[in-house]
Amino acid sequence: MNNLSNARHMDVARLAKRLDNIEPFYVVQVITRAIELEAQGKSIINLAVGEPDFPTPQPIVDAAVAALKSDRMRYSPSLGSDALRQALSNWYQSRYAVDVPAERIAVTSGASGALLLTMGMVISEGDEVLMPDPSYPCNRHFVSSMGGSARLIPVGAETDYQLTSLLVEQNWTERTVGVMVASPSNPTGTLMDHDELQKIVEFVRGRGGVVIVDEIYHGLTYDGQVRTALDISDDVFVINSFSKYFAMTGWRLGWTVMPEGYVEHFEKLAQNLYISNSDVAQRAALSAFDLETIEEAEKNRSRYKEQRDFLLPALRDLGFKIPVEPSGAFYIYADCTNFTNDSYSFSHDVLEKAGVAIAPGLDFGDHRANEHVRFSYPKPIPVLQEGIRRLKEFTSK
Ligand SMILES: Cc1ncc(COP(=O)(O)O)c(C=O)c1O
Repeated sequence: MNNLSNARHMDVARLAKRLDNIEPFYVVQVITRAIELEAQGKSIINLAVGEPDFPTPQPIVDAAVAALKSDRMRYSPSLGSDALRQALSNWYQSRYAVDVPAERIAVTSGASGALLLTMGMVISEGDEVLMPDPSYPCNRHFVSSMGGSARLIPVGAETDYQLTSLLVEQNWTERTVGVMVASPSNPTGTLMDHDELQKIVEFVRGRGGVVIVDEIYHGLTYDGQVRTALDISDDVFVINSFSKYFAMTGWRLGWTVMPEGYVEHFEKLAQNLYISNSDVAQRAALSAFDLETIEEAEKNRSRYKEQRDFLLPALRDLGFKIPVEPSGAFYIYADCTNFTNDSYSFSHDVLEKAGVAIAPGLDFGDHRANEHVRFSYPKPIPVLQEGIRRLKEFTSK
């Protein structure tokens, strides 16, 4: 066991079979180790953690405080408060000019809750879901937790690290029940081509499957406005969250938009699995759509863009290969083969010897995982500059 791994395997009386297929979230190990090193007095530049560096916008915080002072916090409807569902529906209208009735929106505990309930609703034992490799690590584990399996399709720079309709058609089997994509993607920050997504939706509809599109990084795009998958069809599941654009990771609030017929089933699962979402978080989130909040979120977005525009060329100058410009999220997925063919050990060494925390490619799949690392850039430019200085010193030794 090296220092990145803090997992100790102790004997336990019973462990469910489904745990066999669930791998640790390696980046969490990196972050834990980074915190340990910081506690020992070491200076760490943390480019591993995937969350905004900015505080939650003030109107949201004020609304939470006011709600806590004026009322008891109680259970709320399992699909989310009517007010928040309606506010989300209005948001789709004002931001994307798309008509999404509040009845098709369910508020959840983060995008994670949305993914859990959506997968829980559509996946049976033995089912298979197609997803790109690399992609967000938890997705394959949501599927396997439900008794299904993720079929990871290797993707590269030639398709902007996204699935294409051809890849979906080629990999669809008798067991396949759906396709899961994210745009912008974690870890690559790349977007899905809208026409390609439309072709995928049409193909999957023909096969009686489901398409799940994770739009959690919407709002964090830097080269023009993007369209939601709901523009294509009412027949897709769209996952989203207050975590990233609204800088609310710790509030645990997200949502799913689903095709109409699924709502009652989703509600049944939500009722049984966790009753309702955080009351205070839902009341606070009503202020997420205030002009003042959006102004703050947009300011943050322009800072992320500046951070990307600093880090991207700096990493390329160091010798990391980044063939596709990441145009969203706050990640850079970099080929590190100029330095190593073992990105896991490389991440470990960079943390221990250079004091820079980065995520090993291993987290995001199998395909060329050893050749990649992910940099998460929501940090002030001087911090990024210091990170680059340390990496330069480390890689030139
Ligand atoms: C692509 C993607 N989906 C979902 C999530 C889960 O987000 P949350 O549960 O905080 O909304 C994350 C978190 O990093 C993510 O990167």
